[in-house]
Amino acid sequence: MGNDGAQAVSGLKPARFIYILCRMKYGDRVTLPITEMDRKGRGRGLVNGRPVGAYFCAPGETIEGTFYARKQGVKMLRLEAVTTASPHRTAAPCPYAGRCGGCLWQQFDYPFQLEMKRELINRSLSDAGIAEKVDGVVACPTQTYYRNRMDYCVSPKGELGLKEPGRWNAYLDLETCYLLSPAAVQAMNAFRAYMKETGLEPWNADTETGYVRYLVIREGKNTGKRMITVVTAEGALPDPYGLVNALAPYATTIYHGVNPAVTDLSIAEKMELLQGDACLEEQVGRRTYRIHPNSFFQTNTTMAAELLKTVGEFLAPKPPKKLLDLYCGVGFFSLGLADTAEKTIGVELDEKAILMARDNAALNGITNAEFHAAAAESLIWENERPDTVIVDPPRAGLHPKVTKSLLAHLPERIAYVSCNHESFARDFRLLKTAYRITQMRALDLFPHSPHVELVTLLERTA
Ligand SMILES: C[S@@+](CC[C@H](N)C(=O)[O-])C[C@H]1O[C@@H](n2cnc3c(N)ncnc32)[C@H](O)[C@@H]1O
Repeated sequence: MGNDGAQAVSGLKPARFIYILCRMKYGDRVTLPITEMDRKGRGRGLVNGRPVGAYFCAPGETIEGTFYARKQGVKMLRLEAVTTASPHRTAAPCPYAGRCGGCLWQQFDYPFQLEMKRELINRSLSDAGIAEKVDGVVACPTQTYYRNRMDYCVSPKGELGLKEPGRWNAYLDLETCYLLSPAAVQAMNAFRAYMKETGLEPWNADTETGYVRYLVIREGKNTGKRMITVVTAEGALPDPYGLVNALAPYATTIYHGVNPAVTDLSIAEKMELLQGDACLEEQVGRRTYRIHPNSFFQTNTTMAAELLKTVGEFLAPKPPKKLLDLYCGVGFFSLGLADTAEKTIGVELDEKAILMARDNAALNGITNAEFHAAAAESLIWENERPDTVIVDPPRAGLHPKVTKSLLAHLPERIAYVSCNHESFARDFRLLKTAYRITQMRALDLFPHSPHVELVTLLERTA
């Protein structure tokens, strides 16, 4: 056997094995020792010096799998057997674990998941030449039913659930799911039954025909509210009363959302309120937030409180005079920390979120917060002059113009909240000409997935 880690699967003749080493073909079955976890949460090893990966396995394991796809330079195996199992393999609560893209790591014990996340963060930092490291990841106290939002998709056959990882057209018809809540599972099963009974046509992404696309369920974990949006293609609902009847036992708000585009998105362009309150309400710490159905909110309520506490603790030694909250959503950080600053200014692209943020300020009796609907990169800094900035960008990280503005205007401190340590590392490589990291904390908002939140306090060096 070669020293690159590849092994012929029993039964293959030597000549065929050599051929696999030279050039793996679709359908070839390969044995692969997994040496590392990649940033997408896939186990990875080398065959002939080239990266080969598979979902649902971890470093220290040896697997057998069939080569089925190439993704960004990685040859992907479909896991068929684990011949050497990690001591961290454990019984997963969900029967779909090991197949469903919703939870890539449910079959590994939680301390091991946290250790994998710590390693992934530290690898990103060291790859970017950043010396600082995180010592650990703050655990989420519950690893089931921790999410407050799920976007369940409808398959062309009327299945309802999630997809296999990395396969846009491989659906799992989920009868249970441990991510949101038992009541959300009941809602999902009731909606599936309703689709079958009424013959509501599912959307077919291949032919771009059909109607029902997504069932989006959002919950206020601390308010007991539940908002359900049925996202369809263009066209009126054939039986809105029947739909409301089917979902009403599980929802405080029901929407019909229309996504007329061919793109596979659960976000709806038009929203029609069928029943209940127009917004979802959630409480984090001392604040109540009203959330528009299309607007972002941190998806783990319990850990969102920890996130807010972390940013608050990092900024506490020097209360901000003017706190600029870039990418502010419905005002999560600026309203949560308004008491600690003389003035807060939130900037966010989503106009609906900004309307909500203003309402949320009023709802919470906050008078020192203002909000602007604008792209963060279009902000005129001369008008604002903040001493403290919170940035919480989407996964892509800061727009280059935002980084440039930060370096031109040099606020004293930046609290960088990142859901993607790779983009944080890229951005900090530029910011480090004027800033140093003085605090860093990783928090697990996403158990059973490779995702992790990283909060960093950057202080101006001169
Ligand atoms: C990770 S979320 C953070 C939201 C908020 N800080 C919170 O904790 O709820 C990122 C936010 O950035 C917004 N966004 C995306 N691109 C933007 C841009 N170019 N300028 C301003 N906001 C943007 C999104 O709409 C989203 O609300």
